[in-house]
Amino acid sequence: MNLWKHAAKWDAPPSEDAVTLGEGGTPLVRSRVIGPALGLKNLWFKIEGCNPTGSYKDRFAASAVTHLKRDGRVACLGTSSGNTGAALAAYCARAGIRCFLAIVEGAPEGKLRQMRAYGAQLIRIKNFGSSPAVIDEVMTGLRGLASELGAGFEVSAFCFSPRGMAGVETMGLEVAEAMAGERFSIFSPAGGGGLTLAVARGVKSWGGAGRVHCVQPVGNDTIASRLRAGESRAVATPSTTSISGLQVGSVLDGDEVIAACRGLGGTGYVVADETVWSWQARLAREEGIFSEPAGAVALAGLEQAVARGEIALDEHAVCLVTGSGFKDERSLLRMTGETPTPLVERFADFAHAVRAGL
Ligand SMILES: Cc1ncc(COP(=O)(O)O)c(C=O)c1O
Repeated sequence: MNLWKHAAKWDAPPSEDAVTLGEGGTPLVRSRVIGPALGLKNLWFKIEGCNPTGSYKDRFAASAVTHLKRDGRVACLGTSSGNTGAALAAYCARAGIRCFLAIVEGAPEGKLRQMRAYGAQLIRIKNFGSSPAVIDEVMTGLRGLASELGAGFEVSAFCFSPRGMAGVETMGLEVAEAMAGERFSIFSPAGGGGLTLAVARGVKSWGGAGRVHCVQPVGNDTIASRLRAGESRAVATPSTTSISGLQVGSVLDGDEVIAACRGLGGTGYVVADETVWSWQARLAREEGIFSEPAGAVALAGLEQAVARGEIALDEHAVCLVTGSGFKDERSLLRMTGETPTPLVERFADFAHAVRAGL
């Protein structure tokens, strides 16, 4: 039970009756190619796709669903762009709790299939994710419905589910522990900002010299530019990014992210979707790391930090690779093209092709 390893450092539910699938304790892998190509001596990737449902959201769901079970809930209502839903669906299945999910309109089909496989019931809502007004309406409506039905209500943001988000703080704790007194910078992708806030809180509670930077797609810049500009408030904006998981046009935890990152000496970076796709492909081909687009956003932010001279070349830089490549089939097609895998008649044809390709 890796998530409960640092239980004294976060607001953990007691572990005896924890709903767990072995989440947390994910690998921190040193870069072999991309770091040196950027001129960095110490680049690390935190591989959150190794969690049981393939994203860091399992840290959230383990904590949230443990609390729901303790509270005696038999049903859970939640929202998702994909990964939260898969995590909640899995941990609810494990706890014997029924799971109903309001889904962002553009969520990738693969993520929806994963939720259904765990037995969750899902309904997509038009413009949910892209329109701040619709996000507000759905959140308020769900909160009311959950209390009417006596169900749990879980959204992966501190402003809605602080008990679940406390579980995500363990990611910051794990990185800070691994950095063992070194100066380090964490680059965190942000939609509503809950992840970044959790990581910053984890780093702070560990102590030590860690900065946390917030990286957002240009089409969902609710926090990053404000943080960089020295402002204290995030701003709602219609979301136009195609990066699944980061389409959260409302402020949610944004104000707290600004304060927490600034308090640790961090700043904001805004990156283009195309740049993210190209880092997603480079992660796979140059490092063997299979990430969904959101998981490559941090690296796009780090590239900017290097270009602006905002990170020392011998500082330890940690990019959070927040979800597995299996999550988003559309993005894989973009990477590999539609070329069908050839079928040959004989082994000799295979051998011929290999010789020609070498
Ligand atoms: C893979 C991935 N990375 C990052 C995030 C960003 O999380 P937050 O909305 O808390 O900023 C999400 C959210 O869904 C996600 O699915």
